[in-house]
Amino acid sequence: MTDRSQAPEAVIVAGGFGSRLLPLTARRPKHLLDVGGVPFLEHQISRLAEAGVRHVVLATSYHADQFEPVLGDGSRWGIRLSYVLEEVPLGTGGAIRNVADALDPDPDGAVVILNGDVLSGHDLAAQLKDFDTPRGEESVAVSLHLVEVADARAFGCVPTDENGRVLDFVEKSDNPVTNQVNAGCYIFRRSVIDTIPTGREVSVERETFPGLVGEGRLVVGYVETAYWRDVGTPQALVDASRDVVRGIAPTPAIGAAGEARIDPAARVAAAASVAGGSGVMAGARIDDGAVVSGSVIMTGARIGAGAQVTDSVVGPGAVVGSDAVVEGSTIGDDARVTAGVRLEPGTRVDCATTV
Ligand code: GDD
Ligand code: MG
Repeated sequence: MTDRSQAPEAVIVAGGFGSRLLPLTARRPKHLLDVGGVPFLEHQISRLAEAGVRHVVLATSYHADQFEPVLGDGSRWGIRLSYVLEEVPLGTGGAIRNVADALDPDPDGAVVILNGDVLSGHDLAAQLKDFDTPRGEESVAVSLHLVEVADARAFGCVPTDENGRVLDFVEKSDNPVTNQVNAGCYIFRRSVIDTIPTGREVSVERETFPGLVGEGRLVVGYVETAYWRDVGTPQALVDASRDVVRGIAPTPAIGAAGEARIDPAARVAAAASVAGGSGVMAGARIDDGAVVSGSVIMTGARIGAGAQVTDSVVGPGAVVGSDAVVEGSTIGDDARVTAGVRLEPGTRVDCATTV
């Protein structure tokens, strides 16, 4: 077993464009979208702190300047938070390599890497312990949290042998060989990070993991069935937020569960109903007779009298007119839904437009 006095460090790769979340990501990174009443990354950072991580590095690119004003220096969680910018996105592997100088150089150290859009309740401390459990002479190069999904096509497919050794890594294929997929939480031996090429785009999924497995390095799966969701689409954002508010998704980032989480600086009329796991952010206003269910109402948005908003995201500053009906839809920043209009489920309204 590695004798480590240092607490593990972590990297969150948070530089993707979040295109599947447009229009919500037109003006901000997906990693800062409100989930359960707080910016998404607060769930991940608080989990890392809870598992004993004391230094977290954010690998940022798209709208990189927005992270620090929201998340600060980490003191809120009793950790140190650093930010490393990629002027040009370097891919998931390039992003990890690009933060190497910000990490402790001890080659045997453990570095937790998180995809910055995964809400997970798995036991990170147990994954770290498993990573440092000796397997004969070989030490583990990388540990991958793996989960089972019904349809593996949108994920990295990861077959393992009976000892949990990873046999292959096939990113997003039409004919996945197993439903066991990459859950986006890795533990890297620190020295492995230095083997990733510098100065060019590298995909950890398409290049680094298949390369390590091909070289015969010990890559292991850590299989745990706990709450898990990739928050990469508006539907997933709504589902994740509702699960956080209702306490279905375990997270140290918020307190008591309930039917709604309403910021003290939001105004909800006495005759309005906000329930079904809804989250309402500061400055939002919900008028008399409005019914908001299972939805995310972002900063400064307004829901008019008698409007019905179900399983939807209403972006910052957007207005849903009185008696409008919005279901399973996504309303961009500063957009307007005209009073009395009924939107088709699945509608996306671009920022600053009127429907
Ligand atoms: N810094 C940086 N630079 N971050 C990046 C870059 C980049 O160039 N490209 C992507 N990222 C970040 C994204 O912001 C996100 O946090 C993470 O890397 C993964 O990217 P996604 O775009 O969300 O990938 P995905 O959801 O299609 O697939 C990934 O996650 C699945 C699990 O949710 C893969 O890792 C799959 O193998 C995995 O199954
Ligand atoms: Mg994703």
